[in-house]
Amino acid sequence: MRRLLVTGGTGFIGSAFIRRVLGVQAECQLLVNLDLLTYAANIESVLPVLNDPRYIFVRGDVRNKEPIVQLLRQHAIDTVVHFAAETHLDRSIASPRPFYETNVGGTLSVLEAVRSCKGVRLHHVSTDEVYGSLGETGFFHEESPYRPSSPYSASKAAADHFVRAYATTYGIRATISHCSSNYGPYQHVEKFVPQVITRAMQGLPIAICGSGRQVRDWLYVEDHVDALISILKGAEAGSVYNVGGRCERSHLEMVHLLLTLLAEELHEDPKRLHALITHVKERPGHDFRYALSSARIESELRWRPQTDLETGLRNTIRHFQGALCIAAKQ
Ligand SMILES: NC(=O)c1ccc[n+]([C@@H]2O[C@H](COP(=O)([O-])OP(=O)(O)OC[C@H]3O[C@@H](n4cnc5c(N)ncnc54)[C@H](O)[C@@H]3O)[C@@H](O)[C@H]2O)c1
Repeated sequence: MRRLLVTGGTGFIGSAFIRRVLGVQAECQLLVNLDLLTYAANIESVLPVLNDPRYIFVRGDVRNKEPIVQLLRQHAIDTVVHFAAETHLDRSIASPRPFYETNVGGTLSVLEAVRSCKGVRLHHVSTDEVYGSLGETGFFHEESPYRPSSPYSASKAAADHFVRAYATTYGIRATISHCSSNYGPYQHVEKFVPQVITRAMQGLPIAICGSGRQVRDWLYVEDHVDALISILKGAEAGSVYNVGGRCERSHLEMVHLLLTLLAEELHEDPKRLHALITHVKERPGHDFRYALSSARIESELRWRPQTDLETGLRNTIRHFQGALCIAAKQ
Protein backbone atom coordinates (compact mmCIF):
# COMPACT_ATOMS: atom_id res chain seq x y z
CA MET A 1 0.00 0.00 0.00
CA ARG A 2 2.50 2.60 -1.18
CA ARG A 3 0.40 4.17 -3.91
CA LEU A 4 -3.31 4.06 -3.16
CA LEU A 5 -6.50 4.85 -5.02
CA VAL A 6 -9.38 5.24 -2.57
CA THR A 7 -12.91 5.49 -3.98
CA GLY A 8 -15.54 7.29 -1.91
CA GLY A 9 -12.85 8.79 0.31
CA THR A 10 -14.90 11.87 1.22
CA GLY A 11 -17.56 9.69 2.86
CA PHE A 12 -17.72 8.58 6.47
CA ILE A 13 -15.48 5.47 6.51
CA GLY A 14 -13.32 6.34 3.49
CA SER A 15 -12.32 9.67 5.03
CA ALA A 16 -11.45 8.03 8.37
CA PHE A 17 -9.25 5.61 6.41
CA ILE A 18 -7.54 8.46 4.53
CA ARG A 19 -6.94 10.52 7.69
CA ARG A 20 -5.34 7.51 9.34
CA VAL A 21 -3.23 6.35 6.39
CA LEU A 22 -1.82 9.80 5.72
CA GLY A 23 -1.52 10.46 9.46
CA VAL A 24 0.55 7.44 10.48
CA GLN A 25 1.45 5.20 7.54
CA ALA A 26 4.85 6.60 6.54
CA GLU A 27 5.23 4.06 3.72
CA CYS A 28 2.33 5.64 1.82
CA GLN A 29 3.83 7.72 -1.00
CA LEU A 30 0.62 8.86 -2.66
CA LEU A 31 -3.11 8.63 -2.06
CA VAL A 32 -5.67 9.54 -4.71
CA ASN A 33 -9.23 10.06 -3.50
CA LEU A 34 -11.78 9.51 -6.29
CA ASP A 35 -15.18 10.73 -5.12
CA LEU A 36 -18.24 12.05 -6.92
CA LEU A 37 -19.13 14.28 -3.94
CA THR A 38 -22.74 13.18 -3.71
CA TYR A 39 -24.99 14.46 -0.92
CA ALA A 40 -23.28 11.85 1.36
CA ALA A 41 -19.79 13.33 1.03
CA ASN A 42 -18.43 15.68 3.69
CA ILE A 43 -15.52 17.87 2.58
CA GLU A 44 -14.71 18.72 6.20
CA SER A 45 -13.86 15.09 6.84
CA VAL A 46 -10.73 15.42 4.67
CA LEU A 47 -9.68 18.93 5.73
CA PRO A 48 -6.87 17.52 7.93
CA VAL A 49 -5.14 16.01 4.86
CA LEU A 50 -5.77 18.71 2.26
CA ASN A 51 -2.25 20.16 2.57
CA ASP A 52 -0.49 16.81 2.61
CA PRO A 53 1.60 16.71 -0.61
CA ARG A 54 0.82 12.99 -0.96
CA TYR A 55 -2.95 13.63 -1.18
CA ILE A 56 -4.71 14.14 -4.53
CA PHE A 57 -8.43 14.66 -4.84
CA VAL A 58 -10.22 13.84 -8.10
CA ARG A 59 -13.91 14.46 -8.51
CA GLY A 60 -15.20 11.55 -10.57
CA ASP A 61 -17.72 8.79 -10.90
CA VAL A 62 -16.80 5.15 -10.24
CA ARG A 63 -19.37 4.14 -12.83
CA ASN A 64 -16.95 5.35 -15.54
CA LYS A 65 -14.13 2.91 -16.15
CA GLU A 66 -11.77 4.98 -18.36
CA PRO A 67 -10.96 7.77 -15.86
CA ILE A 68 -10.18 5.06 -13.28
CA VAL A 69 -7.81 3.32 -15.70
CA GLN A 70 -6.11 6.66 -16.37
CA LEU A 71 -5.64 7.31 -12.65
CA LEU A 72 -4.21 3.82 -12.10
CA ARG A 73 -1.68 4.31 -14.91
CA GLN A 74 -0.84 7.98 -14.38
CA HIS A 75 -0.09 7.50 -10.68
CA ALA A 76 1.31 3.93 -10.83
CA ILE A 77 -1.26 2.85 -8.25
CA ASP A 78 -0.53 -0.48 -6.50
CA THR A 79 -3.69 -0.77 -4.34
CA VAL A 80 -7.33 0.25 -4.77
CA VAL A 81 -9.59 0.47 -1.71
CA HIS A 82 -13.19 0.64 -2.88
CA PHE A 83 -15.60 2.38 -0.50
CA ALA A 84 -17.75 4.38 -2.95
CA ALA A 85 -21.38 3.37 -2.74
CA GLU A 86 -24.91 4.50 -2.13
CA THR A 87 -25.30 3.47 1.49
CA HIS A 88 -28.58 4.57 3.04
CA LEU A 89 -30.98 1.64 3.36
CA ASP A 90 -34.14 3.79 3.55
CA ARG A 91 -33.18 5.57 0.33
CA SER A 92 -32.68 2.16 -1.34
CA ILE A 93 -36.26 1.24 -0.43
CA ALA A 94 -37.60 4.51 -1.82
CA SER A 95 -35.46 4.37 -4.98
CA PRO A 96 -33.43 1.20 -5.71
CA ARG A 97 -31.97 2.07 -9.12
CA PRO A 98 -29.13 4.39 -8.00
CA PHE A 99 -28.03 1.58 -5.66
CA TYR A 100 -27.88 -0.84 -8.55
CA GLU A 101 -26.06 1.66 -10.76
CA THR A 102 -23.43 2.83 -8.24
CA ASN A 103 -22.95 -0.28 -6.11
CA VAL A 104 -23.08 -2.89 -8.88
CA GLY A 105 -22.18 -0.82 -11.99
CA GLY A 106 -19.55 1.20 -10.11
CA THR A 107 -17.90 -1.92 -8.70
CA LEU A 108 -17.90 -3.49 -12.17
CA SER A 109 -16.08 -0.43 -13.58
CA VAL A 110 -13.52 -0.58 -10.77
CA LEU A 111 -13.00 -4.29 -11.49
CA GLU A 112 -12.62 -3.68 -15.22
CA ALA A 113 -10.07 -0.93 -14.55
CA VAL A 114 -8.11 -3.17 -12.14
CA ARG A 115 -8.26 -6.02 -14.65
CA SER A 116 -6.71 -3.83 -17.33
CA CYS A 117 -3.77 -2.79 -15.10
CA LYS A 118 -1.76 -5.88 -14.19
CA GLY A 119 -0.57 -6.22 -10.62
CA VAL A 120 -2.98 -3.76 -9.03
CA ARG A 121 -4.59 -5.12 -5.91
CA LEU A 122 -8.21 -4.39 -4.89
CA HIS A 123 -9.85 -4.32 -1.49
CA HIS A 124 -13.65 -4.20 -1.63
CA VAL A 125 -15.54 -2.89 1.41
CA SER A 126 -18.78 -4.81 1.86
CA THR A 127 -21.34 -5.18 4.63
CA ASP A 128 -22.75 -7.74 7.07
CA GLU A 129 -26.17 -7.02 5.56
CA VAL A 130 -25.46 -9.31 2.57
CA TYR A 131 -26.00 -12.31 4.87
CA GLY A 132 -29.58 -11.28 5.74
CA SER A 133 -31.15 -11.55 9.16
CA LEU A 134 -30.44 -13.80 12.17
CA GLY A 135 -32.75 -14.92 14.98
CA GLU A 136 -31.94 -14.38 18.66
CA THR A 137 -28.75 -16.51 18.49
CA GLY A 138 -25.90 -17.44 16.13
CA PHE A 139 -23.34 -15.52 14.09
CA PHE A 140 -22.57 -15.04 10.43
CA HIS A 141 -19.29 -16.56 9.23
CA GLU A 142 -17.42 -15.76 6.03
CA GLU A 143 -18.99 -18.88 4.43
CA SER A 144 -22.58 -18.04 5.47
CA PRO A 145 -24.98 -17.97 2.50
CA TYR A 146 -26.00 -14.62 1.06
CA ARG A 147 -29.63 -13.68 1.79
CA PRO A 148 -29.92 -9.93 1.24
CA SER A 149 -33.28 -8.40 2.24
CA SER A 150 -33.13 -4.81 1.00
CA PRO A 151 -32.23 -3.23 -2.35
CA TYR A 152 -29.12 -1.83 -0.61
CA SER A 153 -27.91 -5.22 0.63
CA ALA A 154 -28.84 -6.89 -2.68
CA SER A 155 -26.69 -4.36 -4.55
CA LYS A 156 -23.75 -4.94 -2.18
CA ALA A 157 -24.20 -8.73 -2.52
CA ALA A 158 -24.17 -8.48 -6.32
CA ALA A 159 -21.01 -6.37 -6.16
CA ASP A 160 -19.33 -8.97 -3.92
CA HIS A 161 -20.19 -11.72 -6.42
CA PHE A 162 -18.59 -9.73 -9.22
CA VAL A 163 -15.43 -9.25 -7.14
CA ARG A 164 -15.23 -13.01 -6.47
CA ALA A 165 -15.96 -13.81 -10.11
CA TYR A 166 -13.24 -11.44 -11.37
CA ALA A 167 -10.75 -13.01 -8.97
CA THR A 168 -11.65 -16.51 -10.19
CA THR A 169 -12.07 -15.74 -13.89
CA TYR A 170 -9.39 -13.13 -14.53
CA GLY A 171 -7.07 -13.75 -11.59
CA ILE A 172 -7.27 -10.23 -10.17
CA ARG A 173 -5.85 -9.95 -6.64
CA ALA A 174 -8.84 -9.02 -4.52
CA THR A 175 -9.88 -9.16 -0.88
CA ILE A 176 -13.32 -8.48 0.63
CA SER A 177 -14.35 -7.39 4.12
CA HIS A 178 -17.85 -7.43 5.61
CA CYS A 179 -18.17 -4.97 8.45
CA SER A 180 -20.99 -4.46 10.91
CA SER A 181 -22.75 -1.14 11.67
CA ASN A 182 -20.15 1.62 11.96
CA TYR A 183 -20.54 4.77 14.03
CA GLY A 184 -18.21 7.68 14.73
CA PRO A 185 -17.31 11.26 13.78
CA TYR A 186 -18.34 12.62 10.36
CA GLN A 187 -21.06 10.00 9.74
CA HIS A 188 -23.93 11.48 7.73
CA VAL A 189 -26.75 12.75 9.95
CA GLU A 190 -29.28 10.57 8.11
CA LYS A 191 -27.72 7.50 9.80
CA PHE A 192 -28.98 6.18 13.13
CA VAL A 193 -26.37 7.32 15.70
CA PRO A 194 -25.76 10.86 14.36
CA GLN A 195 -29.48 11.29 13.81
CA VAL A 196 -30.26 10.47 17.45
CA ILE A 197 -27.47 12.78 18.68
CA THR A 198 -28.28 15.78 16.49
CA ARG A 199 -32.05 15.56 16.94
CA ALA A 200 -31.72 15.23 20.72
CA MET A 201 -29.40 18.26 20.81
CA GLN A 202 -32.08 20.25 19.00
CA GLY A 203 -34.96 18.91 21.14
CA LEU A 204 -36.56 17.16 18.14
CA PRO A 205 -38.49 13.84 18.31
CA ILE A 206 -36.36 10.70 17.89
CA ALA A 207 -38.06 8.06 15.76
CA ILE A 208 -37.66 4.37 16.58
CA CYS A 209 -38.96 1.92 13.91
CA GLY A 210 -41.45 -0.57 15.36
CA SER A 211 -40.45 -2.02 18.73
CA GLY A 212 -36.79 -0.95 18.42
CA ARG A 213 -35.75 -4.53 19.29
CA GLN A 214 -33.67 -4.95 16.11
CA VAL A 215 -30.12 -5.84 17.10
CA ARG A 216 -26.99 -4.54 15.38
CA ASP A 217 -23.31 -5.17 16.09
CA TRP A 218 -21.78 -1.70 16.60
CA LEU A 219 -18.26 -1.01 15.35
CA TYR A 220 -16.35 2.21 16.03
CA VAL A 221 -15.08 3.54 12.70
CA GLU A 222 -11.45 3.80 13.88
CA ASP A 223 -11.51 0.09 14.77
CA HIS A 224 -12.82 -0.63 11.28
CA VAL A 225 -9.94 1.39 9.81
CA ASP A 226 -7.49 -0.68 11.90
CA ALA A 227 -9.03 -3.83 10.44
CA LEU A 228 -8.75 -2.53 6.86
CA ILE A 229 -5.09 -1.66 7.36
CA SER A 230 -4.45 -5.13 8.85
CA ILE A 231 -6.09 -6.70 5.79
CA LEU A 232 -4.14 -4.54 3.35
CA LYS A 233 -0.88 -5.40 5.10
CA GLY A 234 -1.43 -9.04 5.99
CA ALA A 235 -4.16 -10.73 3.95
CA GLU A 236 -3.62 -13.19 1.11
CA ALA A 237 -5.27 -12.36 -2.22
CA GLY A 238 -8.67 -14.02 -2.35
CA SER A 239 -9.35 -13.77 1.39
CA VAL A 240 -12.61 -12.63 2.92
CA TYR A 241 -12.90 -11.27 6.46
CA ASN A 242 -15.83 -10.40 8.71
CA VAL A 243 -15.18 -7.35 10.87
CA GLY A 244 -17.58 -7.03 13.81
CA GLY A 245 -17.48 -4.86 16.90
CA ARG A 246 -18.29 -7.59 19.47
CA CYS A 247 -20.94 -5.15 20.62
CA GLU A 248 -24.53 -6.22 20.05
CA ARG A 249 -27.19 -3.71 21.12
CA SER A 250 -30.79 -3.18 20.03
CA HIS A 251 -31.76 0.19 18.55
CA LEU A 252 -33.72 0.95 21.71
CA GLU A 253 -30.73 0.14 23.95
CA MET A 254 -28.52 2.36 21.79
CA VAL A 255 -30.96 5.27 21.99
CA HIS A 256 -31.24 5.02 25.77
CA LEU A 257 -27.45 4.81 26.17
CA LEU A 258 -26.89 7.72 23.77
CA LEU A 259 -29.43 9.91 25.53
CA THR A 260 -27.95 9.10 28.95
CA LEU A 261 -24.43 9.99 27.74
CA LEU A 262 -25.72 13.08 25.95
CA ALA A 263 -27.48 14.28 29.12
CA GLU A 264 -24.15 13.95 30.99
CA GLU A 265 -22.15 15.70 28.27
CA LEU A 266 -24.68 18.56 27.92
CA HIS A 267 -25.57 18.75 31.63
CA GLU A 268 -29.18 18.23 30.58
CA ASP A 269 -32.10 16.55 32.35
CA PRO A 270 -32.02 12.89 31.09
CA LYS A 271 -35.81 12.61 31.49
CA ARG A 272 -36.34 15.51 29.07
CA LEU A 273 -34.14 13.78 26.45
CA HIS A 274 -35.72 10.34 26.92
CA ALA A 275 -39.17 11.89 26.45
CA LEU A 276 -38.18 12.69 22.83
CA ILE A 277 -38.41 8.98 21.83
CA THR A 278 -41.37 8.23 19.55
CA HIS A 279 -42.21 4.86 17.99
CA VAL A 280 -43.02 4.96 14.26
CA LYS A 281 -44.18 2.32 11.74
CA GLU A 282 -41.83 -0.61 11.11
CA ARG A 283 -39.64 -0.30 8.01
CA PRO A 284 -40.48 -2.91 5.28
CA GLY A 285 -38.05 -5.87 5.21
CA HIS A 286 -36.37 -4.69 8.44
CA ASP A 287 -33.83 -7.37 9.40
CA PHE A 288 -34.12 -8.44 13.05
CA ARG A 289 -30.51 -9.13 13.96
CA TYR A 290 -27.05 -8.93 12.40
CA ALA A 291 -24.10 -10.45 14.23
CA LEU A 292 -20.71 -11.37 12.84
CA SER A 293 -18.10 -13.82 13.97
CA SER A 294 -14.76 -12.04 13.48
CA ALA A 295 -12.82 -15.13 14.59
CA ARG A 296 -10.90 -15.32 11.29
CA ILE A 297 -9.48 -11.79 11.31
CA GLU A 298 -8.86 -12.04 15.05
CA SER A 299 -6.81 -15.22 14.73
CA GLU A 300 -5.11 -14.68 11.34
CA LEU A 301 -4.38 -10.95 11.49
CA ARG A 302 -4.50 -10.38 15.27
CA TRP A 303 -7.10 -7.62 14.88
CA ARG A 304 -9.59 -6.87 17.64
CA PRO A 305 -11.87 -3.89 18.22
CA GLN A 306 -10.19 -1.63 20.81
CA THR A 307 -12.83 1.00 21.50
CA ASP A 308 -15.55 0.27 24.06
CA LEU A 309 -19.02 1.48 23.16
CA GLU A 310 -19.21 4.25 25.74
CA THR A 311 -15.87 5.77 24.70
CA GLY A 312 -16.78 5.57 21.00
CA LEU A 313 -20.18 7.17 21.59
CA ARG A 314 -18.71 9.95 23.75
CA ASN A 315 -16.18 10.76 20.97
CA THR A 316 -19.03 10.80 18.47
CA ILE A 317 -21.23 13.02 20.66
CA ARG A 318 -18.35 15.50 21.13
CA HIS A 319 -17.73 15.60 17.39
CA PHE A 320 -21.37 16.46 16.63
CA GLN A 321 -21.50 18.94 19.52
CA GLY A 322 -18.57 20.75 17.88
CA ALA A 323 -20.12 20.50 14.40
CA LEU A 324 -23.46 21.94 15.60
CA CYS A 325 -21.69 24.81 17.42
CA ILE A 326 -19.78 25.72 14.24
CA ALA A 327 -22.99 25.50 12.15
CA ALA A 328 -24.83 27.75 14.67
CA LYS A 329 -22.08 30.40 14.45
CA GLN A 330 -22.16 30.52 10.62
N1 LIG B 1 -21.49 2.92 7.40
C1 LIG B 1 -21.64 1.66 7.75
O1 LIG B 1 -22.08 1.35 8.86
C2 LIG B 1 -21.26 0.54 6.79
C3 LIG B 1 -21.45 -0.77 7.21
C4 LIG B 1 -21.08 -1.80 6.34
C5 LIG B 1 -20.51 -1.50 5.11
N2 LIG B 1 -20.36 -0.21 4.71
C6 LIG B 1 -19.77 0.04 3.40
O2 LIG B 1 -18.65 0.89 3.56
C7 LIG B 1 -18.51 1.74 2.42
C8 LIG B 1 -18.41 3.18 2.88
O3 LIG B 1 -19.59 3.50 3.63
P1 LIG B 1 -19.80 4.95 4.24
O4 LIG B 1 -20.73 4.80 5.39
O5 LIG B 1 -18.51 5.63 4.41
O6 LIG B 1 -20.59 5.66 3.02
P2 LIG B 1 -21.01 7.17 2.82
O7 LIG B 1 -22.40 7.16 2.29
O8 LIG B 1 -20.71 7.97 4.05
O9 LIG B 1 -20.00 7.70 1.70
C9 LIG B 1 -20.05 7.24 0.38
C10 LIG B 1 -19.07 8.07 -0.44
O10 LIG B 1 -19.08 7.55 -1.77
C11 LIG B 1 -19.18 8.64 -2.70
N3 LIG B 1 -19.86 8.16 -3.91
C12 LIG B 1 -21.14 7.77 -4.04
N4 LIG B 1 -21.40 7.44 -5.32
C13 LIG B 1 -20.23 7.60 -6.00
C14 LIG B 1 -19.84 7.41 -7.36
N5 LIG B 1 -20.73 6.99 -8.28
N6 LIG B 1 -18.56 7.65 -7.70
C15 LIG B 1 -17.66 8.08 -6.78
N7 LIG B 1 -17.98 8.31 -5.49
C16 LIG B 1 -19.24 8.06 -5.11
C17 LIG B 1 -19.97 9.69 -1.96
O11 LIG B 1 -19.77 10.99 -2.51
C18 LIG B 1 -19.45 9.54 -0.53
O12 LIG B 1 -18.32 10.37 -0.32
C19 LIG B 1 -19.71 1.46 1.53
O13 LIG B 1 -19.31 0.60 0.48
C20 LIG B 1 -20.70 0.76 2.44
O14 LIG B 1 -21.54 -0.12 1.74
C21 LIG B 1 -20.73 0.82 5.52
